[in-house]
Amino acid sequence: MKIGIDKIGFYVPKDYIDIVELAKARNVDPNKFTIGIGQDKQAVPQPYQDAVTMAASSADSILTDDDKKDLGLLIVGTESSVDESKSTAAFLMDLLDLPEDIRAFEIKQACYGATAGLQTAYDFVSQNPDKKALVIATDIARYGIKTPGEVTQGAGSVAMIISQNPRVLKLDHKSVYMTRNVGDFWRPTFSKTAFARGKFSNEVYVDFFKTLWDKYQTKYDATAADFSTMLFHIPYTKMGTKALRTLEGHVSDEKYAELTEHYQASIKFSREVGNLYTGSLYLGLLSYLVNAAKANEELLLFSYGSGAVGELYSGEIQPGFEKVIDQDAIMNLLNNREKMSISDYEKMYEIEYSDGTIVDPATVDAKFYLSEIKENERLYKKQN
Ligand code: HMG
Repeated sequence: MKIGIDKIGFYVPKDYIDIVELAKARNVDPNKFTIGIGQDKQAVPQPYQDAVTMAASSADSILTDDDKKDLGLLIVGTESSVDESKSTAAFLMDLLDLPEDIRAFEIKQACYGATAGLQTAYDFVSQNPDKKALVIATDIARYGIKTPGEVTQGAGSVAMIISQNPRVLKLDHKSVYMTRNVGDFWRPTFSKTAFARGKFSNEVYVDFFKTLWDKYQTKYDATAADFSTMLFHIPYTKMGTKALRTLEGHVSDEKYAELTEHYQASIKFSREVGNLYTGSLYLGLLSYLVNAAKANEELLLFSYGSGAVGELYSGEIQPGFEKVIDQDAIMNLLNNREKMSISDYEKMYEIEYSDGTIVDPATVDAKFYLSEIKENERLYKKQN
């Protein structure tokens, strides 16, 4: 049975900051941020937006009534959840008008969460071929103002429907994975911002990629020649480049040039948005699908979540994939955003809604939003 991604959708908040303006405000050479880190813009969520509202938005962009009838599983991967008990998935039930007879929950393992969701969905569909699964990656990446990680922040969500006879990406069911207890990046429950050993985290990421690529080649008797494209978790676009560079001199010059060219297509959206944490690999997939992909291409996908879990798996792009992706809607979303000044971004960063907050809908520029915090319970609304 063929199983994989049947639909893929995306949401990014309307506001962004310009990375050159951020560099100037931090007295940094802009080339460090645009070339050394590899970013152009960074998405900034409003205080009425969070992991729940962004998840609802990305899923809403692809879900039809027919999909809803067939859903048996909903998994949200996030490390930005709003509640230590109730899952982001439970909040989505009425926002998305989903049927009750589905299994819905949240998975956390840093940026690996959505891949854990995807592989769980694969197993679910293989046992329940007439059912579909909805997997959503949703996160706000926050390190804090004037920290080294600030330039690698971002926000957004990617939603995917997993089914049999997928129209976008068939998963090969070939995968290698690994887990190590590593202190490269963490966010204690008291903190809204992450802590990172930045340079160490880069080393662990690259080491995981190299280890898994060796494992994949041995397990499946594979070589780079089997793939036209390698997609990476992209906390910032230079990071995937560092992993890709480990292949230079180990694959033919032609193959390295092809992989590099395709990688550039996969990072276009990420340069515009920043880190989505667990959605980053899938934003890279979407960017590649919209900007360069061809039917029947074989992809290798590297998922990495600090802490740390890595997985390397493969899939094949399906003929007609372009008809299933709403490219116009995605480009409109990216192109119709508004630039926020660095001082406004800094002010908004400090805003934190507390109990008793009621959000005036007239101030909301999004379909799904946090409407109220009552008795410390977050309540959400949808508007047209
Ligand atoms: P930093 O110390 O500010 O930067 O932190 P740097 O000094 O390492 O410079 C960065 C690059 O810019 C270097 O290039 C410089 O040479 C270059 P590289 O050696 O890396 O190729 N550079 C310049 N280039 C052009 N013109 C110039 C110039 N000056 C310098 N004038 C760091 C950078 C990424 C460490 C920091 O932003 C950080 O800590 N970020 C957060 C951690 C992170 O993103 N880690 C990635 C791996 S871990 C991961 O992916 C998981 C994660 O997504 C979380 C999760 O799983 O949930 C983070």
